[in-house]
Amino acid sequence: MYDANKILIGLAIFLGLMTYPVWSGLGRAVQAPKPEIDTPIIQKMPEKKCVENTHFMKTTHMQLINEWRDDALRKGEREYTNARGEKVLMSLQLTCMNCHSNKDKFCDSCHNYAGVNPYCWDCHLTPKQMKEGI
Ligand code: HEC
Ligand code: HEC
Ligand code: HEC
Repeated sequence: MYDANKILIGLAIFLGLMTYPVWSGLGRAVQAPKPEIDTPIIQKMPEKKCVENTHFMKTTHMQLINEWRDDALRKGEREYTNARGEKVLMSLQLTCMNCHSNKDKFCDSCHNYAGVNPYCWDCHLTPKQMKEGI
């Protein structure tokens, strides 16, 4: 004699344990974003390099553009010299967004993930707006 209910319950527990790694991962299925650098300007670059190295850009781009803004507006300086000794025009729209013209797949992909919403676009035109001539 055996008890069908007990077997079913046992089976359910067994299945639950066996598949735990699968379903417990569901809540965390949101992957860290992979910012997309496939834009017309970047495609044309022989070496895919940002203004500064990747680590610096990843961790410090917010401070960098704030410095650019302050230098450009308060000191009237428009030229930034990077660690490689190259001169770069300090501009959000004309420099950063010229290369990273895919704002939604680049900037926004990280910012949405990190839950930040830079207010810059209240005033500055997005690449899309620039293109549409707004
Ligand atoms: C000349 C084109 C160019 C300009 C100008 C430029 N970038 Fe980049 N950027 C790139 C390329 C190419 C990469 C990918 C290579 C790398 O990660 O170093 C990149 C990488 C990055 C990354 C790291 C992405 C990652 O995968 O983690 C950030 C953040 C970034 N850029 C932000 C900016 C900001 C902000 C500005 C303006 C201050 C800017 N970029 C200006 C071409 C550019
Ligand atoms: C690799 C991911 C990544 C990419 C790509 C990226 N950001 Fe960010 N950005 C972040 C993170 C994370 C923060 C929040 C950092 C913090 O709070 O210390 C941030 C913060 C900022 C801030 C400050 C916002 C605030 O409210 O403090 C600005 C401005 C900014 N990013 C601009 C840009 C621009 C413009 C681009 C595209 C050219 C860009 N970022 C691309 C990850 C990224
Ligand atoms: C209230 C409106 C406003 C907001 C919000 C704003 N800016 Fe600006 N920003 C301006 C104006 C106006 C200028 C001057 C434009 C010029 O002189 O060409 C400027 C200039 C700049 C410059 C230097 C010139 C250039 O061509 O880019 C940078 C860099 C800049 N802002 C970055 C930022 C960043 C980063 C944010 C978000 C954290 C931001 N700004 C938010 C209005 C704003």
